[in-house]
Amino acid sequence: MTRPRHALMQADRAMGLSHAPRNRAAESPGEPTPPSPMAPTQDIAASERPIAGLAPIPAVAPRTPRAIPALVVQPGTVARGAEALEALRQRHDRECPHCTTATAHTQTVFGEGDPQARLMFIGEAPGETEDRLGRPFVGRAGEKLDEMIRAMGLKREQVYIANVLKSRPPENRTPFQHEVDACGPYLIEQILTIRPEVIVTLGGPATKLLLATDVGITRLRGVWSEWKSPGGEVSVAVMPTYHPAYLLRNYTPQTRAEMWSDLQAVMARLGLARK
Ligand code: URA
Repeated sequence: MTRPRHALMQADRAMGLSHAPRNRAAESPGEPTPPSPMAPTQDIAASERPIAGLAPIPAVAPRTPRAIPALVVQPGTVARGAEALEALRQRHDRECPHCTTATAHTQTVFGEGDPQARLMFIGEAPGETEDRLGRPFVGRAGEKLDEMIRAMGLKREQVYIANVLKSRPPENRTPFQHEVDACGPYLIEQILTIRPEVIVTLGGPATKLLLATDVGITRLRGVWSEWKSPGGEVSVAVMPTYHPAYLLRNYTPQTRAEMWSDLQAVMARLGLARK
């Protein structure tokens, strides 16, 4: 899709980007990403560097998870609010069949934000920085997500941010299906506790889980879908979009404009006007 240059510039301005020359090397996926003009440089690089004295997290072989405990997924019985969310966090940490057996993480990353947020972002799994700090999206991808949230005229505390997996996969690999099966129900309960009006799924794993599809994110992004609770009583509008880490690796006018148009659709739906 080709967008007129003024539209791209508008998207860039909204996302806090300057019109410095594009860094073409950073656009090729799979290659090391040099600092790009769209993101702070030294802080990001420092936050992703291994911490001196910390042993690398060993890769672990996938294990057969314990049986999934009977989770409360009847929306009518799911409590709401901050206390309910905290209770869910504690229960998750005690019993999640994935997070209590996966040994590659130092702590779980449950999620954070407004317990009654109208807008919820769902990513894939904590990375190294998130694992260290116990908070979602606080590494490089998190800087990009913060930029997106700001561009929407919101503050991070006004939304809720969570992941499909609540513990870091070894070497940040893509979650296995059995891990999603084990940890995913807690996310579902988290959604039912928060009851956002809109969920933005960031990347493939979150989109696949919520929309129960194997269709790739490039085909699903930008199109409104609906998540329904297991019994069908609750539905939430879902806007799939790229994962911020993908945007960091694929820094093109097209991907930027596509993501910005996805976010603008969310803003329109929530009645958020850009100041
Ligand atoms: N990527 C994710 O999907 N989630 C995080 O919390 C950080 C990076």
